[in-house]
Amino acid sequence: MHRVMISGIGVAIPEASISNDELVASYNAYVEGENARRQATGEPLLAKSDADFIVHASGVKNRHVHTLDGILDPERMVPRIPARADDELSVMAEFGVAAARRALDDAGLTGADIDLVICAASHHQRPYPAIGIEIQNAIGAGGAAFDMGLGCSSAAAGLHVATNLVRAGAQRRVLVVTPEMITGHLDFRDRQTHFIFGDAATAVLVERLGDEERGGRFEVIDTRGWTQFSNNIRTNLGFLLRAGQEDPSSIPARGNLIRQVGNKVFKDVTVAGHRFIVDFLAEHGLTPHDIRRFWLHQANARMNGMILKLAFGAEVGHDRAPMVLERLGNTAAAGAIIALKENHQDMARGDWGLLCAFGAGYSIGGALLRMM
Ligand code: COA
Repeated sequence: MHRVMISGIGVAIPEASISNDELVASYNAYVEGENARRQATGEPLLAKSDADFIVHASGVKNRHVHTLDGILDPERMVPRIPARADDELSVMAEFGVAAARRALDDAGLTGADIDLVICAASHHQRPYPAIGIEIQNAIGAGGAAFDMGLGCSSAAAGLHVATNLVRAGAQRRVLVVTPEMITGHLDFRDRQTHFIFGDAATAVLVERLGDEERGGRFEVIDTRGWTQFSNNIRTNLGFLLRAGQEDPSSIPARGNLIRQVGNKVFKDVTVAGHRFIVDFLAEHGLTPHDIRRFWLHQANARMNGMILKLAFGAEVGHDRAPMVLERLGNTAAAGAIIALKENHQDMARGDWGLLCAFGAGYSIGGALLRMM
């Protein structure tokens, strides 16, 4: 068994952003138009969205988006991302490559040093050729590549696979790339979910560690996964949708995009997340108090607060468990990796850290890290 480290992390956050006020103004303009129509037909009216509710319920104040064009237009409310020819780099691969190059720079390596690329994300632009292979090709990596997905736990699950492949000696350097273009799969006309998500891409380089200590880098001590079936976060947008239609030429996106029973997810995942953290740490003879920093999934500030309160018996602040959600929204599987990238430079040799992501499935993934 080999020791394993994280030798580089890359993050790509798109420039364009949308504040709660802008998002709510667009949603409410849509509701006004739609309600005028509904009034005439006698259909039930839609309720408006509210920026204060969004901050209070989720902690999100702003989100960055890959493509702003089209999202805030009440007539459209879908990003306008022009289709590309098959011989052009696809949009999702391009987003992943931006983060991958930053992770390689961070590690002082080039694409040629990588022998496996895993594209681990909540949504993939197409089933094949795998987005991971396109990224592998674009960065000049050798070896192999594949795609995998596990909702918001995708990056943690990718780390779990990568760590154990390197540990076993099957691979030497694995790049786990997580391009989350979640606004392309979000129903901006759904009041329950329109405010939650933002786009971001991350990449984590998982590498075999020799006997040397690499100061400022993390050794991956262990990784873990947990899943339990639930329909409370679900998308049905898949290839069989066409076959289920009386008229197969029309594929209804609405109703088949991301939907969630937010308050149920909140309760279930808070309990499961707390249990996961305590059990995983106990396997290593540790308790939450031994962990210098937690990089938790960035879905809801209150939810993370409750998971940590259960673990510590008291409130813990940003220093112990940093949040990036306020300015970025929920960036799905990228969120915990961004929190890690932005919040580890002050950690001392020997400090423990725990990355823990949770989401659809239900799924939870964790990585126990130690600063070298
Ligand atoms: N604007 C104003 N009011 C809204 C609203 C909006 N955009 N969306 C919902 N509401 C209303 C609801 O209609 C409901 O009204 P009612 O009490 O009159 O029925 C009320 O606000 C409370 O709704 P609820 O869904 O219980 O809110 P919440 O406090 O649970 O917050 C989430 C909603 C989504 C922010 C929260 O449940 C959450 O973050 N859950 C976890 C999500 C998660 O972790 N997902 C996994 C990873 S992706």
